[in-house]
Amino acid sequence: QLDRGDTENEQSARGLHFMGQKDELIEAKRSFRTIDDRDILIIYHQGVFYAMDSYCYHAGGTLNNGDIEEINGKLCIICPKHKYKLTLAKGECLYKGTNPKEKPPVPRWYSKGVKQRTHTVKENNGEIYVKLSDNPNWIESDYYQGEKGKIERAKA
Ligand code: FES
Repeated sequence: QLDRGDTENEQSARGLHFMGQKDELIEAKRSFRTIDDRDILIIYHQGVFYAMDSYCYHAGGTLNNGDIEEINGKLCIICPKHKYKLTLAKGECLYKGTNPKEKPPVPRWYSKGVKQRTHTVKENNGEIYVKLSDNPNWIESDYYQGEKGKIERAKA
């Protein structure tokens, strides 16, 4: 949480980017923003803000219009392109599979791990800020934020 009276410079020194007024972002429900060349989606759902890379890691689908569903107790955005399910909180990709060793095999939800980069949303005095993820590891959605990925998306 920001302290009252933080100046803009102090905020940006902490990596916080001003995204807009809270009530406007609530009203919009989905907001597209570009921070340092990174295209992100801010989602307001059931009283909570989330932020993630806006292009699906699988093939660059635009997540803005994806439906949100609870799957296995986790809220997920469903990519409109091929229906991959990405958790809002962590960017994990969930899929339904069966274990062939199980007799009879029962379909269950499994996680492919974190595939979509998620970012931190902070609120201060009715204003919303995003801090980009500083996870140094490659996360697959990074591809569509790079030059090559952006060209590929434009062609699709
Ligand atoms: Fe999102 Fe394929 S691009 S599921």
